[in-house]
Amino acid sequence: MAGKPRSVYRCTSCGADQPKWSGRCEACGEWNSLVEEVVAVRAAARRPRAAPPDGGPPPVRLDAVAADAAPRYKTALAEFDYVLGGGIVPGSLVLVGGEPGIGKSTLLLQCAARLEAAGVRTLYASGEESPEQIRLRADRLAEPAGAVTVLAETLLERVVAQAAALGARVVVVDSIQTAYTADLEGAPGNVGQVRECAARLMRFAKESGPAVLLVGHVTKGGGIAGPKTLEHIVDTVLYFEGESALDHRILRATKNRFGSVDEVGVFEMTASGLLPVANPSAAFLAARHAGISGSAVTALMEGTRPMLIEIQALASRAGFGTPQRVSAGLDHRRLAVLLAVLERRAGLTFTALDVFVNVVGGMRLSEPSSDLAVAAALISSVRDRAVPPEALFLGEIGLGGEVRAVAALDRRLAEAARHGFRRAFVGSRTGLKAPPEEVELVRIAHVGELSHRLAA
Ligand code: TYD
Ligand code: MG
Repeated sequence: MAGKPRSVYRCTSCGADQPKWSGRCEACGEWNSLVEEVVAVRAAARRPRAAPPDGGPPPVRLDAVAADAAPRYKTALAEFDYVLGGGIVPGSLVLVGGEPGIGKSTLLLQCAARLEAAGVRTLYASGEESPEQIRLRADRLAEPAGAVTVLAETLLERVVAQAAALGARVVVVDSIQTAYTADLEGAPGNVGQVRECAARLMRFAKESGPAVLLVGHVTKGGGIAGPKTLEHIVDTVLYFEGESALDHRILRATKNRFGSVDEVGVFEMTASGLLPVANPSAAFLAARHAGISGSAVTALMEGTRPMLIEIQALASRAGFGTPQRVSAGLDHRRLAVLLAVLERRAGLTFTALDVFVNVVGGMRLSEPSSDLAVAAALISSVRDRAVPPEALFLGEIGLGGEVRAVAALDRRLAEAARHGFRRAFVGSRTGLKAPPEEVELVRIAHVGELSHRLAA
C-alpha cells in the first residue's frame, strides 16, 4: 500500500467533512455524529475498471435488456430458499442479521455445505472463528460440509482476493462487524468500517458476479454499527430471530429486491444443526394443552402463509406497587390498549392484577388480527376458565370495543380446519364467500359479547 489512505470524518447529521475525529461536529455541533469515510481509494486507482471514466455503459431500451436472468442458486434448505424468493440471486448482497448465538453461522455453514454439494463453489470467510472451530461445528451438522472452503480472515481486501482466486460463486462473510479495510483507520465494527466494507462487497458482487452473504450481529440494545446501518446498501435483509433458549428460529425477510418481504421461514435448532419446519402450525401447537385457562389460538398471516399460533395470558394477584404488564411477542403498548378496552368496554378489572402475555414459539404478533385471541386469553385467565376446545379467534379490536373483520380470512380458516379447529370467533361484519364447511363461524360484534360467550 503506497502512502497513507485519505479518509475524512463526515457528519451524519449535517454532512460536513472534518480531517480529524472529534466527539462533536464543528459545523453543526451535533455530538457523536462523525463517521470515517474514504475519500480517495488507492486500491481502486491501481485496478482500472473495464470502462474508462468518460465511457461507461450506454443507456438501453428496457425491452433490449436480456430477460433471462442467471438461475438462482438453490440451497435446497427449503425454508431459506423460500424466504429469499426462490434461492440466492447471483451477484446479490444479502444481509443475515440476528442476535449473537441465535444460529446465523450455523445457518450459513449449512447453506455453504449444500451449495458446494450442488456444485456451486462457496467460500466461507470467518473473522470470528478459526478453521478448527468451524470444523467442530461442521462435524455436528447433518449435511457433509467437508467440501466447503473456509478462510479465517478479517482484512476485507484479502477476503475479496481469495474469493476471486477461488472463483467462488457464493461468498459468506461472518461477520461484517469483524471485517475491516486497510483504507480506513477505524477499528473493525465501527460504523465507518462496517459501511465501507459492505459497500465494497456490494461492488465486488455487482462487478464480479458472486453472491455475498453477510452476517450482521444485532444486540438487544440495537448496537450502533449493527445491520440497521446497512439496510439501504444491501439487496436483501433477512433477520434470524427466536429465543435462544427455545428451539424454534424464524427467518424473516424485511427487504428483498428479488422477492417479496414478510415471508418467514421456520427452523428448528437440533443437535445436528437447523432443520426446516415444513408444518409450522403443527410445530407451534404441539406443546399446547387444550383445556387450560389463559390460552387461545389465532391464525397469523406470515407473508402469504397462514400459521396457527397459541397466545397465553396469565393474570395473577399483584404484590406491592404497580402491577406488572409483561409481554413477549406482543407490543406492550398494544397490550395496554387491549387491557384498557377490556376494562372499559367489557367490565373486567385488571387493576390489582399482574398481567403476563406470551406468544408461543418465539413468534411476534405484528398484525391487529390477533387482538381477539389476546382478549380471549386474558378473559379466560381472569376467570380461570378455558376457552371452548377447537376454537380459533380472529379479529381486530377497536377502542370502542368493536370487533373488526380481518384480511385473508378464507386462508386462515382453511389452515385452522386442516388442524382440527371447528369453531372460529370472528368480527360480526365478516363477509365470506365460501366458509369452509368444517368450521362454524361465531360472529362477535363487541368485546362485551366475547366476554359473555366465553362465560356461557
Ligand atoms: P451460532 O450459529 O454460533 O450462532 P451465531 O452465529 O448467530 O452467533 O449458533 C450457536 C448456538 O447454536 C449455540 O448455542 C449452539 C447451538 N447449536 C446447536 O444447538 N446445534 C448445532 O448443530 C449447532 C451447530 C449449534
Ligand atoms: Mg457466529
